[in-house]
Amino acid sequence: MRFDPSFLDDIRDRLPVSQVVGKRVKLKRQGREYIALSPFKQEKTPSFTVNDQKGFYHCFASGEHGDIFSFLQKTEGLSFPESVERLAGEAGLEMPKASPRDEQREQGRERLRAAMEAACVFFEQQLAARSGGVVREYLHGRGVAGETIAAFRLGYGGKNRHGLKEHLAGKGYDVSAMVEAGLVIAGDDIPVSYDRFRERLIFPIRDHKDRVIAFGGRALAPGAKAKYVNSPETPLFHKRSVLFNIGAARKAAYERGQIIVVEGYMDVIALAQAGLANTVAPLGTALSGDQLKALWRMGNEPVLCFDGDAAGRKAAFRAVDTALGLLESGRSLKFAFLPQGQDPDDMIAEHGAEAFRALIEKARSLSDVLWTREVEGGDFSTPERRAALEDRLADLLKHIASNRVRRHYGEDIAARLNKLWGARGARRETLRRSRFDRTPRRDFTRNPRPDVWRRGGVSESLKMSALVRGHSEIAAREALILHTLLNHPWLLDAYPEEIAAICFENRRLEALRDEMLNLATGEKPLDSEAFRTHLKQSENGAVMARVERAITHKSDWSAEPGAAHSDVETGWRHILALHRKSVDLGRELAAAQHAFQTEGSDAALERLDAIRKQLFDLDGMEASIAGYGAESGRPADPLS
Ligand code: UTP
Ligand code: MN
Repeated sequence: MRFDPSFLDDIRDRLPVSQVVGKRVKLKRQGREYIALSPFKQEKTPSFTVNDQKGFYHCFASGEHGDIFSFLQKTEGLSFPESVERLAGEAGLEMPKASPRDEQREQGRERLRAAMEAACVFFEQQLAARSGGVVREYLHGRGVAGETIAAFRLGYGGKNRHGLKEHLAGKGYDVSAMVEAGLVIAGDDIPVSYDRFRERLIFPIRDHKDRVIAFGGRALAPGAKAKYVNSPETPLFHKRSVLFNIGAARKAAYERGQIIVVEGYMDVIALAQAGLANTVAPLGTALSGDQLKALWRMGNEPVLCFDGDAAGRKAAFRAVDTALGLLESGRSLKFAFLPQGQDPDDMIAEHGAEAFRALIEKARSLSDVLWTREVEGGDFSTPERRAALEDRLADLLKHIASNRVRRHYGEDIAARLNKLWGARGARRETLRRSRFDRTPRRDFTRNPRPDVWRRGGVSESLKMSALVRGHSEIAAREALILHTLLNHPWLLDAYPEEIAAICFENRRLEALRDEMLNLATGEKPLDSEAFRTHLKQSENGAVMARVERAITHKSDWSAEPGAAHSDVETGWRHILALHRKSVDLGRELAAAQHAFQTEGSDAALERLDAIRKQLFDLDGMEASIAGYGAESGRPADPLS
């Protein structure tokens, strides 16, 4: 329904913003405005302002801005018409009358709603009746409690082919209405119409006001033709814009500031029962744009849960594509991947709700999943392939409608490419290229600015599925540092402070390093073999395996077990110096990038290029010190 702008103005005139906002936020007067702690962000100093003259609120911390209607939409998840209805009520204004045609249509829908409600009660009664015993057993066996059955209004379709039809007819409903509501199946080739949901466990699907608009029915017999039967599209039910459990989830999402999306009815029910009522599910289809928008009304970063198998990943990737075009500042998605072949219901049954909560905590960002999809398993060993990857990424970013979000994605992707091309550490090649190939560089952000210098291919570690385990690739030098420590744990005893201070880009490497240091505090000197075995069995075992696989470079011999102590030491000093330098340069690079984006001056660009050059030259410097290696029995460099 469209509202007359003058009607909206009438409401605005009667309700100052401070009055509407003041119900939720404690306002303090300051001159002509009010200030408060932002309802959109955790904060200690107020950055939220309300201006009654201008009729808006503004949050400097989150950028949120709007009027009384948008305030209710954003803080309570109301739709626009709902916010109008609510505020018209508060203002003491009557809602405008709908046109006669609208009114007629609404009456028709009201009649269907009544039929759906009656059907829901009928199904609930069937479940409670004696004949529902088997179904109650089934639910009990799956751990669904009585209160949960009542809260979700679960039901049973009964065995009788005409049970519901006759029940509703007795209440005065026409068969045509039952057919329109999707409860009864009729057709030219069907002599006697019959109930759609028989011998099934019934899940009522309700709208945001908890009105029943459709049903899902799960087969109970293992061999049934279709596991699930859902209502068809009706005037009440458009499955691509409905989310199962939206009514209860909306309230819970507001209390917790988070909304979770799972795949199935039983997942939602299991989570709700485990205390996570802020959960919804689409209805057997991929998440649609409409559903996504509904999710964003409940939270800025809905967490989508997927099975970690191929199908689940495919579904996640689809969601990425749907989201890209709709992203706005502050709004995104997160992705949680479950262990292969498990849905949240299974996981909670097996490992408890805490395990699921932990999984949600570790959910990955949209940009991360997008990146993984594009590079995972890819072979970027030729310039053409590397160029193709950059093309593909640039094309993807074009789908982001918001300029600001697109620009930030461009930067994110550019940084990841930088790292990827650097990951293999093809150092000699790099040196040559950084001198001769000064051609920039792709435009990832629309601004014509230099971006990435290309280098080697993708590392082994990247080819593994990084998606499910959720970590990024390991940089060559960082792997080398840890590899050296693995083979020469005495370094840990000799230089504990220095080692503790090393910054790793990859958090999990820091954890591995910490564990190494813990082990090294023992009394007796560490034996490399025992050291390895212990680490392998620790929770850092997987990271350690990845570190070892990431080492491919032949010239890193000083890290290998056989190298003499003095050479190890020299090699170690060298790697460490280079690493520190590159960490510093990385910071400078970020600052220079920022400067270039804000100023866009030639001077800033030159600075950026100079830092890049230093960084890449740095990579060519490993293991090239004269005389180094003689004690380990290595021949001197024949060219020197
Ligand atoms: P699943 O087949 O994974 O079922 O479908 P499930 O929810 O895990 O059911 P249980 O645990 O075996 O009882 C996931 C969801 O997809 C929708 C349903 O919402 C279902 O819960 N779906 C699936 C349909 O709507 N129609 C179908 O034919 C299949
Ligand atoms: Mn299941």
